[in-house]
Amino acid sequence: MIRTRELTKDFVVSRTRTVHAVRGISLDVEPGELVAVLGPNGAGKTTTLRMLTTLIPPTSGTAQVAGYDVVTHPDRVRAAIGYVGQGGAGGASQRVRDELVTQGEIYGLDRRTARGRAGELLEALDLTEQADRKIESLSGGQKRRLDVAVGLVHEPSLLFLDEPSTGLDPHNRANLWEHILRMRTAAAEPMTIVLTTHYLDEADTFAERVIVVDNGQVIADDTADALKAELAGDLVTLRVAPDDAAALAAVAERAPGTRSVRVVPESGASSVAIRTVDGPGATPGLLRAADAAGLAVSRVDVARPTLDDVFLGLTGRSLRETGVDGSGAGPAETGAPTGATDELSTDGSEPTKKEVLA
Ligand SMILES: Nc1ncnc2c1ncn2[C@@H]1O[C@H](COP(=O)(O)OP(=O)(O)OP(=O)(O)O)[C@@H](O)[C@H]1O
Ligand SMILES: [Mg+2]
Repeated sequence: MIRTRELTKDFVVSRTRTVHAVRGISLDVEPGELVAVLGPNGAGKTTTLRMLTTLIPPTSGTAQVAGYDVVTHPDRVRAAIGYVGQGGAGGASQRVRDELVTQGEIYGLDRRTARGRAGELLEALDLTEQADRKIESLSGGQKRRLDVAVGLVHEPSLLFLDEPSTGLDPHNRANLWEHILRMRTAAAEPMTIVLTTHYLDEADTFAERVIVVDNGQVIADDTADALKAELAGDLVTLRVAPDDAAALAAVAERAPGTRSVRVVPESGASSVAIRTVDGPGATPGLLRAADAAGLAVSRVDVARPTLDDVFLGLTGRSLRETGVDGSGAGPAETGAPTGATDELSTDGSEPTKKEVLA
């Protein structure tokens, strides 16, 4: 469904300054897959989606989407895909149902079919009550659900969603996911979905595959479970008296399956944090070894890894810290004076579905 090779995007922002937003991304997405793209702010997620949806041309490299090259056959690509941009749709003075019908017609549906499809989507996305209201009067979450409806109105076989759930409350996030999953399986052929998200739990729970992007490059690509098992490992935390921490760390270093050991000082005690292949399996052995060395363990915790642990293991940074507040390392730049990337932000100027058609 998607095949990219060494896909690259440079933004030349001035004669002396180029932003390397995407630096050689190669991926394959099979029909019917649900893929989540994770990465901190500025990692190149939106830029990649905009190239795949033909909104901007690649600087180099190739991309085939739904069987067509994005540069040589953009029209064919556009007809096959749906795209929900990060900023959401416009048309503020349109009424909700009319917007859906219009978008369906733009995509070549006849009016009757477009009206029928609009009705189904309004129902599915809990917008029936708002159908005759103007878009500008909707709440943020209602608008976001309308964005998703617009992306689905022509029943694309491939749907791109750029942060579909950002800004939704937990109830509406859950609702949106329920609808996405239901529509995906209700379609005659399973829909392929590629989405970006900053919610690690969403990627973990719903995506069949997680692609982690950092600095314009893919740094991991696998199922969430495989990434966690290979790259993070379980965390066993043993609490001991501060004087015993170094000795316990030495014992843990020698235990089978241990990947790394870290001593975390606490008030009145110390914790020894052990990354290990199989936490529940390793814990009895660790406790026996501690006992044999005369070290009294007062508390044991075993935690399964999260996708944030995966990112931390790959980059030494936490996705939670870098992803949400924008304090991450940002993209690679050449010839850039430091600390002045704000004017490069695309915030607020994201393309809408209409731009896809422009
Ligand atoms: N039109 C543009 N001109 C110059 N730089 C751009 C342009 N569009 C994007 N960039 C820069 O390219 C980099 C990647 O941006 P992109 O929007 O792809 O990141 P992202 O991973 O989607 O981040 P976020 O999580 O914040 O949405 C950023 O540094 C951004 O400022
Ligand atoms: Mg983005």
